Amino acid sequence: MYINLSGLNILVTGASRGIGKAIATKLAEAGATIAVHYHKNINEAENLAQILGNESKAFQADLVDPADAVKLFERVVLELGSIEILINNAGIAEAAPIELAQDDWDQVWNRTIAMNLTSPAILCKKAIEHFIQKKTSGRIINISSRAAYRGETAEYLAYASSKAGLVALTSSIAKSFGKKGIKAFNIAPGFVRTDMAKAFMSQYGEEHAKGDIALERLTEPKDIAPLITFLASGMADHATGTTFDINAGSYIH
Ligand SMILES: NC(=O)c1ccc[n+]([C@@H]2O[C@H](COP(=O)([O-])OP(=O)(O)OC[C@H]3O[C@@H](n4cnc5c(N)ncnc54)[C@H](OP(=O)(O)O)[C@@H]3O)[C@@H](O)[C@H]2O)c1
Repeated sequence: MYINLSGLNILVTGASRGIGKAIATKLAEAGATIAVHYHKNINEAENLAQILGNESKAFQADLVDPADAVKLFERVVLELGSIEILINNAGIAEAAPIELAQDDWDQVWNRTIAMNLTSPAILCKKAIEHFIQKKTSGRIINISSRAAYRGETAEYLAYASSKAGLVALTSSIAKSFGKKGIKAFNIAPGFVRTDMAKAFMSQYGEEHAKGDIALERLTEPKDIAPLITFLASGMADHATGTTFDINAGSYIH
């Protein structure tokens, strides 16, 4: 099967490292032009955009601030001319034990919801308006988490809640805008070896993470990217609204 994404502009948030970088790389290999979004890692993002080719470019935005999400979308459209596919991948997982002082707990909750749910929702709204205006059969792929279904440990209540919100957002978009040609998919990874997973790894150890899965090795970012590329191609459009589990058999919802 041959996947050709040339001529498509794809905004990948959080593409400077981890899962987003692997996704951006696979999509560019298939010919897409990537808007490589980053927060702080300007060098990684600019180097990646150059390596990816296809006139890919790096774009900065702090997605804890929802106003930045609006500006990001508008800047990408201005510079690339259009966006055909949005991939909401950037996310944070900040720990907030229940014993934390209320103000501190609230801060983690608010930052997490802003970053993992509000900004992705704003980017979805902008993308839907853009797809309708351009009469494009656009696609949205949101990176949620297995935590949305099976819950998380006590420190990550905000994280799991934000990811569950993203699942409902995605299926609602699929239901509401399918007749306008818009498709929306949800990816629910399990533990993936990235910077985000380091905190868990140092707390519980690699063997604990391995004990949770059915396969012989932990999931790497490169194990997530091919399915995203397939969804981006349009060959799975009739799966719109669905969540795809990629968790090495650790949890089937
Ligand atoms: N790793 C896992 O085990 C796992 C499991 C399930 C789901 N996920 C989900 O998969 C997605 C990618 O995770 P990952 O493990 O690849 O994460 P990661 O390695 O920690 O990378 C995070 C990415 O998000 C960007 N980012 C961080 N703070 C930001 C902010 N304030 N504003 C805008 N962007 C910001 C980072 O940009 P800079 O590099 O510029 O800072 C980076 O590109 C997330 O949504 C995560 O929740 C991950």
